[in-house]
Amino acid sequence: MSKICIIGLGYIGLPTAAVLASNGNEVIGVDINERARNNLISGNPYPEEPGLQELLEKARENGKITASESPKEADTFIICVPTPFTLDKKADLSYVEDATNNLIPVLKKGDLIILESTVPPGTTRDIVCGAVEKAGFTVGEDVLVAFCPERVMPGKIVKELVENDRVIGGMNEKASQMAKAVYGSFSKGQLYLTDATTAEFVKLIENSFRDINIAFANELAIVSRDIGIDIWEAIELANKHPRVNIHNPGPGVGGHCIAVDPYFIIEMAKGKASFLALAREKNTHMPSYIVERSEEILGGLSGKKITLLGLAYKGDIGDPRESPALDIIALLKAKGVNCSVFDPHVEEGMIPELTGLDDSVKDSDLLIITTDHSIFKELDPEHVGSLVKNKMVFDTRHFIDRRKWESAGWNVSVIGVGK
Ligand SMILES: NC(=O)c1ccc[n+]([C@@H]2O[C@H](COP(=O)([O-])OP(=O)(O)OC[C@H]3O[C@@H](n4cnc5c(N)ncnc54)[C@H](O)[C@@H]3O)[C@@H](O)[C@H]2O)c1
Repeated sequence: MSKICIIGLGYIGLPTAAVLASNGNEVIGVDINERARNNLISGNPYPEEPGLQELLEKARENGKITASESPKEADTFIICVPTPFTLDKKADLSYVEDATNNLIPVLKKGDLIILESTVPPGTTRDIVCGAVEKAGFTVGEDVLVAFCPERVMPGKIVKELVENDRVIGGMNEKASQMAKAVYGSFSKGQLYLTDATTAEFVKLIENSFRDINIAFANELAIVSRDIGIDIWEAIELANKHPRVNIHNPGPGVGGHCIAVDPYFIIEMAKGKASFLALAREKNTHMPSYIVERSEEILGGLSGKKITLLGLAYKGDIGDPRESPALDIIALLKAKGVNCSVFDPHVEEGMIPELTGLDDSVKDSDLLIITTDHSIFKELDPEHVGSLVKNKMVFDTRHFIDRRKWESAGWNVSVIGVGK
């Protein structure tokens, strides 16, 4: 059994704490935010994740998990704090710096520090090892340091934490082996060992791969519509090729990973990552394209009411970080549109435009499906149609049942469909 301090109890840290605690480890969950600590203590966590509540309850009943505002003495420290970008698209590593500095007072010889936050290559060495050395410890002898990125999917975090393969990058072999033992206490996946800087880069190129492929699909969607093709049919057929896997187009890319991580490479590459930069540019342009198409559909935007169905960046989760819906709302409002949003997964009050279904669609000129929440498939087009001003819907996810809506009298436009 290991005593583990998890620093940062957000989307990643809280489930990690719960999984470690329910697999025989003693866990101290640390967060500077009271609400995040209460999520752990109350056993009623937000954001919701299937299986998380049960794991937390089990860990609490067994006395294996506690919450604290600051790091406490432990054998292992796992850092899961945010790594957003600044306004000029540079990695903001201040949270990693603070989290590392805050654990130094309780650090002792023999301890292991694992950085899980997604970071630019070299961060574990420069920031974490730098602070440890500055405190008088020798990295690799007194204190072991490793980087182990997270690759879970929101909505399946608990399952994927246990089942996914992981990459572990130690500052030396001993650190890799010690980190492997920590993850081996719960992981059923393969644990691949490498050095810290390679592991940092691996995480970034995984998400950059996806960003580039989504940008490709988005470009194809725009072109397909112009030349009179249905991109969804074309992609389905192209993906019958055994070595082709084209991703889905959509209104843009959101979340704390794919929309952020490529910038960490672009920043370090100093002009040599033009391919990644172009993909980012293509994907960040998509909200403008959605607004342009909405303008075409309505023949003008000023004074219109438009309802977005979905604020979250992804289906069936409540996370609106970097969501393209936020950009679409800002662009529509700048064009004099009265915007409303319905998203039953996003916490009430997150933005002023968020309301219940009937209020949000009432007197609307156009509905835009911005998120593929399962619940939107179950919407009754007759009921919604009785509330709106115009029965017009623009599906940017190719998600609703077009025939069902058309047979209820709706005019349905779909991204990438020109026939
Ligand atoms: N969310 C994902 O799906 C996902 C997937 C893979 C990797 N990641 C990476 O994991 C890291 C964490 O992401 P997240 O989504 O869990 O972030 P989050 O914002 O949900 O949670 C981070 C938590 O850290 C806390 N925190 C900040 N500074 C702190 C400090 N000095 N001491 C203690 N607590 C502190 C915050 O209060 C917050 O509760 C990021 O680097 C992210 O890129 C996230």
